[in-house]
Amino acid sequence: MIEKLYVDAEASKAVFRARLADLSPQELEAWRGNTLDYRALYAKAKDIHLAVSRRTATLLYILARTRGARSIVEFGTSFGISTLHLGAALRDNGGGRLIGTEFEPGKVAAARASIAEAHLSDIVEIREGDAVETLARDLPDSIDLVFLDGAGSLYLKIARLLEPRLDAGSLLVADNAHGAPDYLDHVRSSGRFMSLDLDKDVEISVATHSMAEVL
Ligand SMILES: C[S@@+](CC[C@H](N)C(=O)[O-])C[C@H]1O[C@@H](n2cnc3c(N)ncnc32)[C@H](O)[C@@H]1O
Repeated sequence: MIEKLYVDAEASKAVFRARLADLSPQELEAWRGNTLDYRALYAKAKDIHLAVSRRTATLLYILARTRGARSIVEFGTSFGISTLHLGAALRDNGGGRLIGTEFEPGKVAAARASIAEAHLSDIVEIREGDAVETLARDLPDSIDLVFLDGAGSLYLKIARLLEPRLDAGSLLVADNAHGAPDYLDHVRSSGRFMSLDLDKDVEISVATHSMAEVL
């Protein structure tokens, strides 16, 4: 099933490229610079995966396994490629809980179907709605790994929402991190993380302290 999702993701990239070519220069600039209303931006990609690369998906699995993660939060599920890798890592770690969030209903339904097909429904919960609301309630006390892959303009806000639940050694992983300069400044300069960019676009940050102690 994961192969089929990768094939679909690749095909949807071409559709999306053609769609971007139809945008006005101002709309294109807003899309690239993350400056337009994010709901309007993502409404143009209801049927497009915008998925992590195979390398990033594998990296997520490795990070979740080596962290021994039992508790993961993902911002930006789309059709679920990253979610399936993180859910599989939890399963292989002996079980746990992954809370994902996505505001496009069609993507939520498709991701839930893939999660069920992968026998991960007992581990993975997808919350439908805006992450600013869905991740503001009912979270585990402690979070081992956060994956940020939604609107870049919200990375810092979402990270701050979840940060009090990070322990020493918990990981923040942000895809397309160049689109979130305020977030990059936070993880690189707040003194709360060791942080590194990989492949130019993925920022991995490890909490150096339990945030309950420093916040
Ligand atoms: C880059 S894609 C995620 C790709 C996914 N992680 C994968 O690997 O397949 C970003 C997704 O985040 C969703 N999204 C963006 N901002 C959001 C928000 N504020 N709340 C919920 N979902 C959001 C978009 O609809 C889009 O499907």
